[in-house]
Amino acid sequence: MWNRDQQDSQFSQMIDARLSRRRFIAGTAAVSASTFLSLNPITKAFAAQSETSLLNFEAVAASTSDTFIVPKGYKATPLLSWGDPIFADAPAFDPSGKQGSQAQLRQFGDNTDGMSLFPISENRAVIAVNNEYTNYDLLFDHGGNAMTADDVLKAQAAHGVTVFEIVKSGGEWKLDKNGTRNRRITANTEMRLTGPAAGHALMQTELDPSGMKPLGTFNNCANGQTPWGTYLTCEENFNGYFGTSGRAELSDDHKRYGIKAAQSKYQWHDSDERFDVAKHPNEPHRFGWVVEIDPNDPTSTPMKRTALGRFKHENAALLINDDGHVVVYLGDDERGEHLYKFVSKGKYKPSDDAANRRLLEEGTLYVAKFEMDDNELKGQGQWLELTYGKNGLTKENGFNSQAEVMIFARRAATQVGATTMDRPEWVAVHPDNQHVFCTLTNNKHRGVKEGQPVGGPNPRKENHYGQIVRWLPSNGDHSKDSFDWDLYLIAGNPQVHQGSLYAGSDNINQNNMFNSPDGIGFDKAGRLWIQTDGNYSNKGDFAGQGNNQMLCGDPMTGEVRRFLTGPIACEITGLTFSPDYKTMFVGVQHPGEKGAPSHFPAGGNSKPRSTIMAITRQDGGVIGA
Ligand code: FEO
Ligand code: CA
Ligand code: CA
Repeated sequence: MWNRDQQDSQFSQMIDARLSRRRFIAGTAAVSASTFLSLNPITKAFAAQSETSLLNFEAVAASTSDTFIVPKGYKATPLLSWGDPIFADAPAFDPSGKQGSQAQLRQFGDNTDGMSLFPISENRAVIAVNNEYTNYDLLFDHGGNAMTADDVLKAQAAHGVTVFEIVKSGGEWKLDKNGTRNRRITANTEMRLTGPAAGHALMQTELDPSGMKPLGTFNNCANGQTPWGTYLTCEENFNGYFGTSGRAELSDDHKRYGIKAAQSKYQWHDSDERFDVAKHPNEPHRFGWVVEIDPNDPTSTPMKRTALGRFKHENAALLINDDGHVVVYLGDDERGEHLYKFVSKGKYKPSDDAANRRLLEEGTLYVAKFEMDDNELKGQGQWLELTYGKNGLTKENGFNSQAEVMIFARRAATQVGATTMDRPEWVAVHPDNQHVFCTLTNNKHRGVKEGQPVGGPNPRKENHYGQIVRWLPSNGDHSKDSFDWDLYLIAGNPQVHQGSLYAGSDNINQNNMFNSPDGIGFDKAGRLWIQTDGNYSNKGDFAGQGNNQMLCGDPMTGEVRRFLTGPIACEITGLTFSPDYKTMFVGVQHPGEKGAPSHFPAGGNSKPRSTIMAITRQDGGVIGA
């Protein structure tokens, strides 16, 4: 842990150095150069080790090739690809697309996303990983044009979470198909609802009158990990799975979450009426939650934590505050939606995991309001409480209980006056346990749609590059209502744009530029790993940026260096480490999407497959160091 005085001076120097050269002169955004030069209160608390860069690898160039490129002296090997058997008796992957649901239930799901590693012993660990969605053109031989009931079951089995054990031998981590923890969790696995919305009338359906036992989880984007050994999986774009071929009058609340009374592209409602919103209008209320899973017990029931609110969850960045309360930062990834914070009622007890496992059942949810004084790129902010009866969350304003505040958290956030954001994606907590970073991936509606004004942490009209905001709670105390914020990084293209914020912040140049930061995470040393899910056309505004990639940032010096590039038409997402930080696991999602010419990872003429890569150094050292 760094001490506060060292933090003060180091972080101030860093900001001074980084911002002394500035390119924010003209602008499409109403920001003056001098505002970014002045010292920010957030800089008054950061860490030591001034002179030495945390980044000790050779930068990788932008790439448009169909390969996964890591720095010189590094090696990357596929660990697990979509369709690989995760049980000893499971069938091998069949690229024809003709395998049915029973095979997919015993194989790695599709489109790998957020993941966490849980150590078991020195040479054994268990990884829990999200399978966010699936691409029908790759999943089926008919491309989704002749869906049977079993095809729907297969698609549902390609979603959810995969839990698998890995063992280390000869310095390399490999899947253990005989691992006793191996498990598939899918869109049909029985779960429990907990917290304020559990059992509420809005959660009850004909198939589950208790309102307590939803089936399944899907569109699990990113993740979180608790110190009591559980995995958090976050339900994101759940709306796309609901639809109807009939007629339904949908409420404004359904519309706010994007639920439509139309044919859904996944076609689940055609053979599984649970997904027909005309027949089961409450079923969508049972999705959009954070789900807690015990990766060490394959018989355990996943728990949906309604105290953390219902929205399109990206990830769940959890920390233990100095006072023992559990704090979870949460983004809602949609243009103009919000950033949230949960504070548990109870306190973490290091020796009582049975009690810790209930900490996410009860607490207070807040939503962020950023002040935008003089349109500066820094300022203060407030966390506004989302509690029934407070801040206008009353009957007069359409809220009848805490359950409704949680189920319609988006509407509650609007009611209290939260700031609309440029699509909050992952949140990551710096190892100092104080500074928190969040990717705002892009937002073409900024400055265009009503209610999404340019300013504050969202400083560019029609923002298609994204930025990373960070904040420091007052006194370093995450239970406090106020915080200071600034922008750590503004992605842009200095090759295409000069003299405006579209060129990016000063730490962005033609050698490290990228767009649409999404997955982020810190390693133990404080390196910030930044993954992209952006425009990979390599043309126009994105010329020179190439395929999606992962970069590494040093928050002390501001430096950003490209660490790897992915294959054609993929997204890089999902990040976890072996306990010694000598192996890094990174996800390559949807290579070859929409028919793009990828054959990753097997090459030749093979079908492209979403894959987890294991990255090591040839000299066996710590990644990035
Ligand atoms: Fe699944 Fe917001 O990315
Ligand atoms: Ca994402
Ligand atoms: Ca994204």
